[in-house]
Amino acid sequence: MVRAWYFNDDGSDRRSKHRKDPPEYVSVEELFTNVGVECYRIDVSTYDNDCILAEIKKKRGYKYEDQLICTKENFNNIKSYYKEHKHAEEEMRLVYAGSGYFDVRDHQERWIRMFVSAGDMVVIPSGCYHRFTHDYNEYIHLKRFFLNDPVWKATLRSAGEGDSRPTHATPVQQELLQAAN
Ligand SMILES: [Fe+2]
Repeated sequence: MVRAWYFNDDGSDRRSKHRKDPPEYVSVEELFTNVGVECYRIDVSTYDNDCILAEIKKKRGYKYEDQLICTKENFNNIKSYYKEHKHAEEEMRLVYAGSGYFDVRDHQERWIRMFVSAGDMVVIPSGCYHRFTHDYNEYIHLKRFFLNDPVWKATLRSAGEGDSRPTHATPVQQELLQAAN
């Protein structure tokens, strides 16, 4: 399951945990209600016919996917992922193997670090600034889902630019909120 905490900007290596002392943990429920990030558990051993994943893809209209394997050797190709950015579409990623960190900004501009490992899937809402990095294992195999042709268009954050997430839950999120109550 995704574990999350407020990021301690202590200047240490991006691959370290960056936990405060004492830690300020953030539950998956808080990630959803306060930040709009959805977390799911997917059985990667039955990935191709996992009912939960199939249902999520159908409901949200996902038609394409690809995969990305990030290792120590190819990190230079993906180091831009650790630059703060956002997308016009939500970002849905499943960890097929390995582990790493997604950092997301909350509405008060604080970083929250999410540790993800095999079977964790996160949906980061459109307009939410985020970044990604390895942990010290330096290996992660991600499945990336796309509504249309696989493209990765990111908008890097420029000085003074604010969060552009919708202030209201999307229709899919409203359904999830209703189901949770
Ligand atoms: Fe991204």
